Amino acid sequence: MIAIYPGSFDPITLGHIDLIKRSSILFEKVIVAVLKNPNKTPLFTVEKRVSQIKECTKNIDNIEVDSFSGLTVEYAKKKQAGVLLRGLRVMSDFEQELQMAHINKTLESHIETIFLATNTELSFVSSSVVKEIAKFGGSIEHLVTSNIAQDLYRSFAQKN
Ligand code: PNS
Repeated sequence: MIAIYPGSFDPITLGHIDLIKRSSILFEKVIVAVLKNPNKTPLFTVEKRVSQIKECTKNIDNIEVDSFSGLTVEYAKKKQAGVLLRGLRVMSDFEQELQMAHINKTLESHIETIFLATNTELSFVSSSVVKEIAKFGGSIEHLVTSNIAQDLYRSFAQKN
């Protein structure tokens, strides 16, 4: 079974990587898919995020990294994936994730959403929090890989 792990990944965190590693054991192939979202102004371009994720997952065999636009279920069908994978960190994630899972099910009943609970030690990590800390020069080495930390510090240094 092929699983799609869709998201913004702006940038990928250790929480995302933990989920990718664990899902790679459960599925034949996991496609990490970065959404080209016209409604958001990301810090990193889609191309940069794809290359960041490739670098972070290069040691896992059955991972593909890609980008997509439009509906996730349409992309999943195109990729012949049967599963959409999402991480749940805290209870407050659940409401929105459940709504998304239900909507996707109404759009494409053959595709299931599977939730994985994130590692408890990483349950507080989010891309937004990482960006916030990096912006003010705080330590993020325990939240992202070193290549991502460098990209973040460089990106904020250019903006200042
Ligand atoms: O990392 P994020 O921003 O929480 O990911 C959200 C994402 C990309 C999974 C979600 O916004 C999405 O699937 N967008 C594509 C449009 C779509 O399929 N919408 C219908 C489901 S709400």
